[in-house]
Amino acid sequence: MILIIDFGSQVSHLIARRIRQLGVYSELVHWTEPVESIKSMMPEGIILSGGPRSVYEKDAPTISPGVLKLGIPVLGICYGHQLVAHLTGSRVVSSSKEYGREMMSIKKPSQLLKGMKRKEQVWMSHGDSVTELKPGFELLASTPDCKVAAYANEPAKIFGVQFHPEVQHTLNGIRILDNFLRICKAKRNYSAKGIGTRLAEEAKSRIGSMGVIMAVSGGVDSLVAATIIRKATRNIHLVFVDNGLLRKNEAEQVRKTFHELEFENFHFIDASELFLKRLKGVVEPEQKRKVIGHTFIDVFERKAAELKKRHGDIEFLGQGTIYPDRIESAQPSKTASLIKTHHNVGGLPEKMKLKTVEPLRDLYKDEVRALGRSMGISEELLERHPFPGPGLAIRVIGEVTNEKLKILREADFIFIEQLKKHGFYKKTWQALAALLPVKAVGVMGDERTYSYIIALRAVTSSDAMTADWAKLPYTLLERASSDIVKNVKGVNRVLYDITQKPPATIEYE
Ligand code: XMP
Repeated sequence: MILIIDFGSQVSHLIARRIRQLGVYSELVHWTEPVESIKSMMPEGIILSGGPRSVYEKDAPTISPGVLKLGIPVLGICYGHQLVAHLTGSRVVSSSKEYGREMMSIKKPSQLLKGMKRKEQVWMSHGDSVTELKPGFELLASTPDCKVAAYANEPAKIFGVQFHPEVQHTLNGIRILDNFLRICKAKRNYSAKGIGTRLAEEAKSRIGSMGVIMAVSGGVDSLVAATIIRKATRNIHLVFVDNGLLRKNEAEQVRKTFHELEFENFHFIDASELFLKRLKGVVEPEQKRKVIGHTFIDVFERKAAELKKRHGDIEFLGQGTIYPDRIESAQPSKTASLIKTHHNVGGLPEKMKLKTVEPLRDLYKDEVRALGRSMGISEELLERHPFPGPGLAIRVIGEVTNEKLKILREADFIFIEQLKKHGFYKKTWQALAALLPVKAVGVMGDERTYSYIIALRAVTSSDAMTADWAKLPYTLLERASSDIVKNVKGVNRVLYDITQKPPATIEYE
């Protein structure tokens, strides 16, 4: 296991992700974690992350120097690199800022930079630099503006790099992390299959013989989490709430999926009328989210109370929380806290006196997918585009009505079908149709029409924080547009959205 001590860099979580990709389990802890606790975790190596502060500032984040004396290999990155230098008596000063791609020249062969070319592209982002190294520490590499771009104290197995090996712009960064793992002699036993078994065992020891209740959405996270818990116990009750804001055929598909996966206690609640009633007259986007979130909790809570009465042994609430949900800097959008309260039924566990079981809490999305794959969940379910908790309500701009939902559902279905047919579904992060709350004039046959406008949006992205509009082929767009206008009554125009995020968001509301 590799322990990452986090000093608050935006990309700390990426270090953990890369280490895991290299087959070694890795975890982040806050820099205040006491040295005894670090020792008791028995890491094979320690990485100190980057961070926004300066090591020489008053109250700057630091670690106990004892961490460097545990005999465990240490790699400092950016702030971590400066902090190790500072704690071991080297000099760190404010310097000219270096930001972006830089060429680094290797000055000395080392275990850390083994296999690198003489000159390598690295990614820098710092305003402080290590200028002089204490005896025992050797200079490994420099850039034109940063003399100490990497150093090593090989006998003590302490290393530092000023650049970020975890980001893609450091072209051979992954090799450096791989070399570090070799220095640590870290065991490469982190694989999807192994994780599945371990997570199910952990869930089992937490749950014991008690029952679990869990809300599922049909999305990947809750599906995989439920499958893990199901491996730990048969005593799991799933609740699916049809809020009437789902896509065409979606509710039925979810029901079928859980039936095929042999979940015995699957409770399907059709609450679509209640949701629509409560949404009447609501036009403001955040208000919509609030109404939907609260209604969801009301419906779920009622069902949970009923099940708890019937099955006295229900003591746990299962949740599909994944690692990025727990890391603030990795939250996917401004609405992330709402996403959380909606999807992960925030506040409910305490209110209902339930303990939580969250088997995926340490995993990234790609790991959740790989885990699902190793458990035999179909590719179609695993590769589904993200779909927001408030569903089509935030794609019907303005007031949500049954008529508008019906139109949107059909248009969305046609668009997604065409994307799949043309092989573009997997190439896009997310695709959707939205209904604009205005009507425009058109002509169909001999008749003048006055109907709604549908906007189509497809984006490429890696984390939903930023997104680019997908350059879909004209033939695909043409087919989607003509099929929508031909088959969906109430629509006479189709637009394709060519706005990036930022400044636009992926969703319309
Ligand atoms: P935006 O529209 O902010 O969306 O660019 C970024 C990602 O978050 C999803 N999203 C939501 N998911 N509840 C959710 O569960 C929400 O309220 C919500 N709002 C946006 C959106 O689909 C995209 O993947």
